[in-house]
Amino acid sequence: MAEVMSFFFVFFFVSPIVLCRASLSSDDLPLERSNFPSLQAEEMIRKLNLFPAEKLNLMEHDPSLTQRLVEKRFKFPNLVGDFEGVPVEDLAHHAGYYKISHSHAAKMFYFFFESRNSKNDPVVIWLTGGPGCSSELALFYENGPFTIAKNLSLVWNEYGWDKASNLLYVDQPVGTGFSYSSDARDIRHNEDGVSNDLYDFLQAFFKEHPDFSKNDFYITGESYAGHYIPAFAARVHRGNKAKEGIHINLKGFAIGNGLTDPAIQYKAYTDYALDMGIIKKAEYDRINKVIPVCEIAIKLCGTDGTVSCMASYFVCNTIFSSIMSHAGDINYYDIRKKCDGSLCYDFSNMEKFLNKKSVRDALGVGSIDFVSCSPTVYQAMLMDWMRNLEAGIPALLEDGIKLLVYAGEYDLICNWLGNSRWVHAMEWSGQKQFVASAEVPFEVNGSEAGVLKAYGPLAFLKVHDAGHMVPMDQPRASLEMLKRWTRSKLTEGGADQGNLVAEL
Ligand SMILES: *[C@@H]1O[C@H](CO)[C@@H](O)[C@H](O)[C@H]1NC(C)=O
Ligand SMILES: *[C@@H]1O[C@H](CO)[C@@H](O)[C@H](O)[C@H]1NC(C)=O
Repeated sequence: MAEVMSFFFVFFFVSPIVLCRASLSSDDLPLERSNFPSLQAEEMIRKLNLFPAEKLNLMEHDPSLTQRLVEKRFKFPNLVGDFEGVPVEDLAHHAGYYKISHSHAAKMFYFFFESRNSKNDPVVIWLTGGPGCSSELALFYENGPFTIAKNLSLVWNEYGWDKASNLLYVDQPVGTGFSYSSDARDIRHNEDGVSNDLYDFLQAFFKEHPDFSKNDFYITGESYAGHYIPAFAARVHRGNKAKEGIHINLKGFAIGNGLTDPAIQYKAYTDYALDMGIIKKAEYDRINKVIPVCEIAIKLCGTDGTVSCMASYFVCNTIFSSIMSHAGDINYYDIRKKCDGSLCYDFSNMEKFLNKKSVRDALGVGSIDFVSCSPTVYQAMLMDWMRNLEAGIPALLEDGIKLLVYAGEYDLICNWLGNSRWVHAMEWSGQKQFVASAEVPFEVNGSEAGVLKAYGPLAFLKVHDAGHMVPMDQPRASLEMLKRWTRSKLTEGGADQGNLVAEL
């Protein structure tokens, strides 16, 4: 108890000071080293064995970029072999920059991989979390067309999501990955900023690729993208309804091991940790004493609080840090694994690969830094962290837009239990039927890869033998999931979800 409370008080009283600094942040970047959340972000980044040279992609570059969107077809050097006899040149891989409309000088970097299967496949956009980590983490380690071999060659990924979709990866919020600005005022602090930039990007993208604008469109992502995704889906839907620009054929959004409804998810930490044997009952009881305070703090934050949201971040994160202080060196993204020193995963080859001159030349990024994860972007989003993003979802479900929430069962930080609870607690016209629906095995190649519950447009999938990064741990099951979900057949052979969707 003493330990938990001292954490609590320290952060609670320190936080106003941090708040003042953070609120000035857009004008006096880069932020001071001593700032606690920024240190926390740096620790997270080191756990992935990443060492970005800069904390934020803030640089003067290419004033000549006058067009909205500059895109090139490219071929990665060091790619081993053709794909089933098809030369990579024929597969249409694109990299580009979008000059963000409502910004001072921001450019958003993206990859676009046309489907290895058919141009008529849906267009799927992937967003990595952090906040502040590049989507290239997923491209090379989760669901992209290739993976990086030890010798830094690229090898085709048999289960890349580009086998069932035309796949987009964007680096965002601005300052992350290859996305940059020369003006610190372009740093985003909330989901309005994030979702408007993404929506504006989509408009420019579909203008450039009108052939793809009639395809089905899906939003996907992971972790902190549990915030981005509902906000982005709502933004697209709002744009469609108001007939702003090009109509985007939004059919659904999927959140993998995400943070969406903090009030429910923070409360689930100790239950999950106890169930999984990470903490003992005495520790459970002790840490749980913080929960009522955390709940009040989150309630004050709501969907659009400011200072209260920052305060709740500090209060509620003591729950997580207390669990970790008992958990030893476990990897909080996959509790089956240990971290070796500060190292939990080794994604360093991505940085090495993207810093190679031949790769940079192929992509056309020139001297632009690659910031794998930005502690500054992380810190800039702190006010957003505890906001409830579940609030906007029921309206999307009522309009027939599908939501899939999936979670690898061994992730602690955005665990399946907290995700399952908010999905069940969500109030919408199909809530009763969803709650009453039976769980069914999600079978892939004859064995159970997960447990699925679905009704109408809503589905929840607990994925076996996976941690935080489901497509990395279960690539085959995750590709099957994407295929069946985008084709409205999540339950293999069984009662087709399509019927239920049609009823709504
Ligand atoms: C690098 O590794 C890949 C995959 O193991 C292999 O196919 C390729 O031949 C290797 N390339 C070189 C130049 O050794
Ligand atoms: C499917 O399952 C069979 C039998 O368990 C196995 O031999 C085969 O390798 C699996 N196929 C794939 C592509 O994983």
